[in-house]
Amino acid sequence: MHPICKVNALSNGESLSFTLNDTPCFITKHNDQFFAYQNACPHLGVTMEWQPNSFLDSDKELIQCSMHGALFLIDSGECVYGPCQGKALTPIKISQQGDTVFAE
Ligand code: FES
Repeated sequence: MHPICKVNALSNGESLSFTLNDTPCFITKHNDQFFAYQNACPHLGVTMEWQPNSFLDSDKELIQCSMHGALFLIDSGECVYGPCQGKALTPIKISQQGDTVFAE
């Protein structure tokens, strides 16, 4: 298992980039739950953040790709708007042990 961050490192609406076996990924916290995905837009495969560690839209309700604005549900990774609508981000299995979030 690969430690990603401490449980209290992120507040709701915040995100964090990390790598897993050299694959760019990110984790975000929404409604006190963590969700992690590969940082690769299903449209063109590029990394998606607007700025370092910034993956959500302005309302912090959806994941947004900075390249062409595709929007994704935070809890499922499904693209609900944009050029890759109907496709989905690749989820990373995570678990929480003690005060740390791990990628499995
Ligand atoms: S590369 Fe993400 S929307 Fe086009």
